[in-house]
Amino acid sequence: MTVMHADFYESDTALAQYLLFHYGTPNQICPLLPEARTACGFPTRCVVEPLRHLDLKLRRRALDLGCAVGRSSFELGRHFDEVVSIDFSARFIAAARHIGAHRTVTVRVPREGDASDEFRLELPDGLRAGPVRFEQGDACNLRDDLGAFDLVLMANLIDRLPDPARCLARLPGLVSPGGWLIVTSPYTWLDEYTPREKWLSHGEGGTLGTLKRNLSPHFILHRTLDLPFLIREHHRKYQLSVAEASLWQRL
Ligand SMILES: C[S@@+](CC[C@H](N)C(=O)[O-])C[C@H]1O[C@@H](n2cnc3c(N)ncnc32)[C@H](O)[C@@H]1O
Repeated sequence: MTVMHADFYESDTALAQYLLFHYGTPNQICPLLPEARTACGFPTRCVVEPLRHLDLKLRRRALDLGCAVGRSSFELGRHFDEVVSIDFSARFIAAARHIGAHRTVTVRVPREGDASDEFRLELPDGLRAGPVRFEQGDACNLRDDLGAFDLVLMANLIDRLPDPARCLARLPGLVSPGGWLIVTSPYTWLDEYTPREKWLSHGEGGTLGTLKRNLSPHFILHRTLDLPFLIREHHRKYQLSVAEASLWQRL
């Protein structure tokens, strides 16, 4: 049976997996293979590493689209006065708000068979919840009154959308002139999430080529970066992926 996206991101499995992915320490995520720990901390790195390469003139508003349980949003809160964070999963949004309010959450993640590990996860000191506002919403059908942003982050979202081109078409109106768009994705196109005819991988240059065509003439590609990330399935099994981060400036 195919598990559709809405079901997966509302499940206990996804919630625990993403809480650990976002807030776990490298030792909690990957206890047995220290060599793989450079791929931990993706929700932080997908903000910190691109920002090193951007000339951010204005730091008023940022949008985290597909924010999941919120770690990147809190990271953006270090740099921007206001962060709007949107995800389709009501459970992810509830968990992100919980972390913002209580700064801690306890999760049980699979160890082997029926056994699990319990971890107490924390929002690190220095990250402020104040600037961040989480809301449930659909990246393919965003509300009209979101306003404009100095930076929009779409981390590992496009290949989980039913209509990614529709989401991209909204971006010129969301990013202020001179502002920045960060798109990261491992380009894992799957029928369960995106009908095959809507995959951006078709055509010259693969997904990046389609992004260039769909985002021009409003955005110019500044540079790309490779960002590895590790998601724990259980104590001895992980997903290792390499997202491509593309950094675009709004003209
Ligand atoms: C692969 S996860 C990436 C999450 C997060 N940005 C990260 O890097 O960990 C994809 C996220 O997109 C969300 N999502 C899927 N479809 C969506 C939609 N139509 N609108 C907004 N978010 C959506 C899921 O709920 C999930 O949180």
